[in-house]
Amino acid sequence: MGFVKRTHSCGELRVADAGQQVTLNGWAHRVRDLGGVLFIDLRDRTGLVQLTFDPTLFPNRSELRNETCLSINGTVKERAEETKNPKMGTGEIEIVVSAYSVLGTAKPLPFPVSDEEQMQSVNEELRVKHRYLDLRRPSMYRRLAIRSSLIKRIHRYLDAQDFLEVETPIITKSTPEGARDYLVPYRLDSGKWYALPQSPQQYKQLLMVAGIEKYYQIARCFRDESSRADRQPEFTQLDMEMSFVTQEDILTLAESLTIDVLNGVIEEFTLDKFKIEPFERLSYDEAMHLYGCDKPDLRFGLRLFDLTSAVAGTEFGVFKNTLEAGGVIRGVRYPGGAKMSRKEINALDEFCRELGAKGMAWLAIESEAGEGSTILSSGQAIRGSIAKFFKPEELEAIVKTSGAESGDLICMIADSYAAANNVLYRLRLEIGQRSGLRDQRVLKFCWIVDFPLVEWDADSGRWSPSHHPFTMPKEEDLIYLDTDPGRIRADCYDMVCNGMELASGSIRIHRSDIQARIFKLLGINEETQQERFGHILEAFSYGAPPHGGIAPGIERMVMQLTDTENIREVMAFPKVGGGYDPMMDAPSTIDAQQWAELGLRRS
Ligand code: AMO
Repeated sequence: MGFVKRTHSCGELRVADAGQQVTLNGWAHRVRDLGGVLFIDLRDRTGLVQLTFDPTLFPNRSELRNETCLSINGTVKERAEETKNPKMGTGEIEIVVSAYSVLGTAKPLPFPVSDEEQMQSVNEELRVKHRYLDLRRPSMYRRLAIRSSLIKRIHRYLDAQDFLEVETPIITKSTPEGARDYLVPYRLDSGKWYALPQSPQQYKQLLMVAGIEKYYQIARCFRDESSRADRQPEFTQLDMEMSFVTQEDILTLAESLTIDVLNGVIEEFTLDKFKIEPFERLSYDEAMHLYGCDKPDLRFGLRLFDLTSAVAGTEFGVFKNTLEAGGVIRGVRYPGGAKMSRKEINALDEFCRELGAKGMAWLAIESEAGEGSTILSSGQAIRGSIAKFFKPEELEAIVKTSGAESGDLICMIADSYAAANNVLYRLRLEIGQRSGLRDQRVLKFCWIVDFPLVEWDADSGRWSPSHHPFTMPKEEDLIYLDTDPGRIRADCYDMVCNGMELASGSIRIHRSDIQARIFKLLGINEETQQERFGHILEAFSYGAPPHGGIAPGIERMVMQLTDTENIREVMAFPKVGGGYDPMMDAPSTIDAQQWAELGLRRS
């Protein structure tokens, strides 16, 4: 037989179909030649079904290899009771094949597509090189299906809210998102370059000046920055902007959209997740104080604590010197950590040192006194190499501030506020992970608000924007502009889920007097303003509305839904290493004529 269009999909057949003549199209997922009979699990995107081939009818069956593309005719038959497979949707039936044709032969495979377990150890570059095979795996298909459903639901939701979807250019001018640009040479005037957008930031603001009022786009963004587990050079945002809104309006919309859309996907794919609850809200300062970072994982408590006043008069050298230098003593509790061996505690100390700490001081709280332990008035015993440097009342104050109970380990870092936070934030996550507190079934969202407008950049010796130069300062903080710019908070916000930044946005400056003052603070002179932002400043002089927006990363949302820690697993065609696509072999060289046409010369 040649190619015959299918009558059914592989995954849909059931016992009720027994006796039916069917035509199926798909791939040989798993071939088992038992001599007497040949079994093939045929796969299409809906699932698998078992085919049986009578060897007397099909003596020439060596061509039926794994991943061969097939068309078959056959009859649906109920399987004998003992051969039924409850793990397979179609496990109660099989198809007795009467005719088949090979639609596409398959060479020996570079990796075992059908074996999920073995695939875990396959080199990722090899998988991406043969992505068309890797994507045949049902688990990969499912992630793409989840992503597709998420995007469809976003369209539906925003359409119902009267948003207009507008596409913005890909070859354009540099946008200030803080990464390096991907550049495209301009053929008609060598020496001039387009930049690929790091986000449609300026276009969406120009659309507000244009009166669009409610804009969104599933927008591709390009950033030449080093890849990380949650970062790709090319990624997708749900980009939104609105006019005549306050920060509160944007947070409300983005929150209800996220809850609605993600809960919809969770239900459709019966994902093992609890329903998403309304978001908590923390100021940037609170987040830094309680969790040491601006993207806290709120699935568990274990808040950081500050021991600076508890040990203010200490004679313990390390703490004393840190305090004298203006530093802090901060810590985190490790529930049940007191039972760790010395070797395990040393490993935790090493973990902190690798993050830049000078060391991790620790105290173990025990219910019974052991060798060398100090007994507190509470009856608790304290053990630890530094316990001897503290007076009993200091130890009591440390234990009280930490909230530690018998069995806990108190971990402490002495350093500057920023450096101590940087270590403790990660140590808290490590402790949460080891203690099984980072429950995959929980998606715990929060808003981080009131970010500082600017940060001091020691390298360049000037203030740089925490978000971008168009972020609106809080009106009441403008009094600090000339005296203490670090104190100015911005109408700027991040959406965080389970310790990952999912979205970022702000209210923008639309008044030229405020914009001029911020440019001055950032040290961006008139000439640079005109060169880089002249177009948008000009637009703002024609009746710009107050406006603001936000942009959630699509990949990061899918990562949260699919318990994936590697962003590449939720993209059809990701880049590996430093932005390399091994399948297309991109980037690649260009021929001499292209060099000449572009007026480029190799250095
Ligand atoms: P920002 O640069 O914070 O803001 O990006 C917003 C969100 O986009 C996602 N994201 C990424 N995802 C994968 N790989 C990357 N390299 C990457 N970089 C960012 C994250 C992040 O929270 N124009 C502003 C938004 C606005 O102000 O409206 C912007 O792009 O999920």
